[in-house]
Amino acid sequence: MKKTGNKVDTSNLISRKVKKLAPSGIRAFFDLVLGMEDVVSLGVGEPDFVTPWNIRETGIFSIEQGFTSYTSNKGLYKLRLIIHRMLKQSFGLEYCAQDEMLITVGVSEALDLAMRAIINPGDEIIVPEPCYVSYGPVVELAGGNPVFLPTKQKDGFKITPSMLDGACNKKTKAILLNYPSNPTGSTYSKVELEKINKVCKKHKLIVISDEVYGDLTYDCEHVPYPTLKGAKDYTLYLNGLSKAYAMTGWRIGYACGPKPIIAAMTKIHQYTILCATITSQMAACEALHSGGRSLKEMKREYKRRREFMYKNLNEMGLICSKPRGAFYIFAQIEASGMNCLEFASKLLEEEKVAVVPGVAFGLSYDNYVRMSYSTGYPQLKEAVIRMKKFMGRHQKNIKRK
Ligand SMILES: Cc1ncc(COP(=O)(O)O)c(C=O)c1O
Repeated sequence: MKKTGNKVDTSNLISRKVKKLAPSGIRAFFDLVLGMEDVVSLGVGEPDFVTPWNIRETGIFSIEQGFTSYTSNKGLYKLRLIIHRMLKQSFGLEYCAQDEMLITVGVSEALDLAMRAIINPGDEIIVPEPCYVSYGPVVELAGGNPVFLPTKQKDGFKITPSMLDGACNKKTKAILLNYPSNPTGSTYSKVELEKINKVCKKHKLIVISDEVYGDLTYDCEHVPYPTLKGAKDYTLYLNGLSKAYAMTGWRIGYACGPKPIIAAMTKIHQYTILCATITSQMAACEALHSGGRSLKEMKREYKRRREFMYKNLNEMGLICSKPRGAFYIFAQIEASGMNCLEFASKLLEEEKVAVVPGVAFGLSYDNYVRMSYSTGYPQLKEAVIRMKKFMGRHQKNIKRK
């Protein structure tokens, strides 16, 4: 750090790469919410359920028994075996627990490791939009260039094979897919995935498939990408326990994929993280072992909330498609006559309801806001009452204009 006179010169303190990153649109907005009273927040993508008791108890008991050490860098073998069995039984997918699997600190770490493992400077990674806020930054931090492919509501917020084909060139290394999607709740059918897969094959893309909401799919079957014909050889399948098991704070995710990619990710993981926390890994064993019952109950409740939000938002002129998975709804706000930042700030200010502006998920989504129905039913009801009042006032304004 240079000193100029008595002052320290901080202009060179932070790397150019980090300086260039935009702060998360979600966090920036939710800093505003902190400290406000009586706010109904539809903002944060986190289950309102507490982790089921048997899972918490397993974590507590593991501490009582003195399990306080590091685990293998790859994660507890027992946990990897449970994941191996679960994927085999549910989808006929076989990953070797020894060298085709890595336990990570949430899907977040798995995404970061994946990018750092595969990207050479200047490689292009295709990212369909709207997308989870960290996708662009993890690609950039690894030295790659995200190539965003904005999708439209009329296409169900899904990419088409021709869009993907048109975006590929010699520099394209991978595609970062996420379904069911945060923020739209849209998902792909097997037929749609097969068509996309043909293009991925043609351009020899690595497919990084973030399926963290795979267990939260309503009215349709979730199709894991590596189950598509031939796709397992070039797919990195990412999943975790944060969402479906209400375990966001435990920070457990996992990556399954081709041996060389998993080995490269494990190398970075061992130098930077060592291993995921043992208590959380033990709790994760219990969750996956016994999870079916509580998972079904939570899913039933999300489905009930989805119906409620879908019906009410459309009735008040906030047009949205029915989400097929995850716990988000992406509503078009054109009827309010505002852009998304104005809408979100006014709604917060006037009715104390917090939603996330669409531009947090892609610059083309100035006409949208994301709402999460991982908030309790009574809060959703209250939010709807307040939003109806808000829309009543502002729709009238448009008519007068
Ligand atoms: C699409 C998507 N991927 C990954 C994550 C991060 O999940 P984790 O808690 O497993 O790090 C989130 C969290 O909101 C998400 O929405």
